[in-house]
Amino acid sequence: MEKKWYRTMSVYQIWTRSFCDSNGDGIGDLPGVLSKLDYIESLGVNGIWFSPIYPTPNADYGYDISDYMNINPEFGTLEDFKKILDEAHKRGMKVFMDLVINHTSDEHEWFKESSKSADNPYSDYYIWRKGRGKKKPNNWLSVFEGSAWEYNKNRDEYYLHVFAKKQPDLNMDNPKVRDEVKKIMRFWLDMGVDGFREDVITFISKAEGLPNGFPLPVATGVEHYKHGPHLEEYLREFRDVQNEYDCFAVGEGPMTSVKDAVKFCTEGKDKLLDMMISFDHMNADCFMADWVKTPFNLRKLKSAMSTWQNEMYGKGWNCLYIENHDHARVIDRYGSPKYRRESGKMLAAMYLLQWGTPFIYQGQEIGMGNIRLDRVGDYKDVLTFNNYRLFSKLLHYSDEKFLDLAAKVSRENARTPVQWNSEKNAGFTTGEPWFKVNENYREINVEAQENDPDSLLNFYRKLIAYRRGNDLVVYGKYKEYYHSSSDLYVYERKRKNERLLVICSFREKPVKFKAPVNYDLSRGEVVFSNYKDCPIDGNGFVTKPYEVRVYHFMDNN
Ligand code: NOJ
Repeated sequence: MEKKWYRTMSVYQIWTRSFCDSNGDGIGDLPGVLSKLDYIESLGVNGIWFSPIYPTPNADYGYDISDYMNINPEFGTLEDFKKILDEAHKRGMKVFMDLVINHTSDEHEWFKESSKSADNPYSDYYIWRKGRGKKKPNNWLSVFEGSAWEYNKNRDEYYLHVFAKKQPDLNMDNPKVRDEVKKIMRFWLDMGVDGFREDVITFISKAEGLPNGFPLPVATGVEHYKHGPHLEEYLREFRDVQNEYDCFAVGEGPMTSVKDAVKFCTEGKDKLLDMMISFDHMNADCFMADWVKTPFNLRKLKSAMSTWQNEMYGKGWNCLYIENHDHARVIDRYGSPKYRRESGKMLAAMYLLQWGTPFIYQGQEIGMGNIRLDRVGDYKDVLTFNNYRLFSKLLHYSDEKFLDLAAKVSRENARTPVQWNSEKNAGFTTGEPWFKVNENYREINVEAQENDPDSLLNFYRKLIAYRRGNDLVVYGKYKEYYHSSSDLYVYERKRKNERLLVICSFREKPVKFKAPVNYDLSRGEVVFSNYKDCPIDGNGFVTKPYEVRVYHFMDNN
């Protein structure tokens, strides 16, 4: 594999609203980010991805953009952003913006104009259709809020919104819209931004004629836009612009199969994206969507991860992550809050030593956890409210039962303010925080972990440093062992005469591990572990709760 800068990179994701508040208004902001750049640098990462920081009415906390070429005034100004860009570059860190082009906010000027009449320059910027008599144009349901169609009186037509009502879908079949996208990309690239995370990019082309979809409780019709007829053609146009710069692009592909991802990401002149954000491994404790909770299934996790490791290897490049702003905290899902430190370290090693570019979400590095709120009204997010509607209406959930479920699965678990120290509001703000701070901040916070060499935070630092410039971890081939085990995840990375053996227990109970026949543990060096002593018994050991051991081997031949 050719050596490219993004292949040795680790990226830190910032969801600004909850990161650090500099002015006491209870909302995280860009000067807050600036004040923490030294901290971010100290993690050893060399990239920052900002979830959307553009002006927005916050119907989907920034994923509803009302102006693509400016900064959300709640977060600061373009000058603040340029300062961060400059400071990040000085520290050798790249900066990536979130490019949300499947939809805008209904408060974007384009939509305001478009919804005035059917004969103005913006009328065709969105997807407008007449109703079928009294009925909506088709049976599509949105991901966030009932029907995917909203009626507009001025036009006597409906507009399509695959997400919330306030997120009308752009009509990407209109070349003028694609030109706008190109302008937006150039605006940020000319400023010095290094690339984009492209939001639900696989949804941008809708099937001709917008046919009815297979009925589902949400997102009916998704089969007609999850990989539409012109997707590759439009991505090609965007990539051509990006190729004029040294631009990195990672696409978000809900439901995208590894087969399609390989098609988008294969090296060469036809490459459309550098990597793809897969969802498969985030479904190991749910069925299709986070809210349809099932018990955690390790084999499901291993299958998903191994499939992407194996299928993409040697062709494109993988995006590695176990947390972001769309999922509950991972220790509470795949690890154990009782063994927060141990299972947090195990999960970190499990994914950070795989093949691809890792992303680390704010607070993940200190093992922040989920939150149980007391009232449904304390939640803030359109997706939580839609699920409240569905669960109370269709399944007759009481508020208490819903709150118990939300505490396990809602993406808002990942949006509580970052816990910096044990002072009031976890040091996030001197004002009233916009969203509840997790009570556990007195024990779980950055400051406490800075002072503890054995903390999860310092474990992340060691892992990130180990990856950097380590050809075995960056380029080595992946192979899984003992796939049928429902307790252990064991894999190898191999390159030339070097091997790593990563052994992860996903259980509290003791589990017997015996090394594969081609390994002699006594000849390996333990490079990472989450317990002080790593005794072996024969060519194996019995695991402690959520134990991880990483052995390094040099083969002398
Ligand atoms: C995916 C984003 O990650 C999520 O936060 C957002 O709600 C949807 N796309 C809609 O933009």
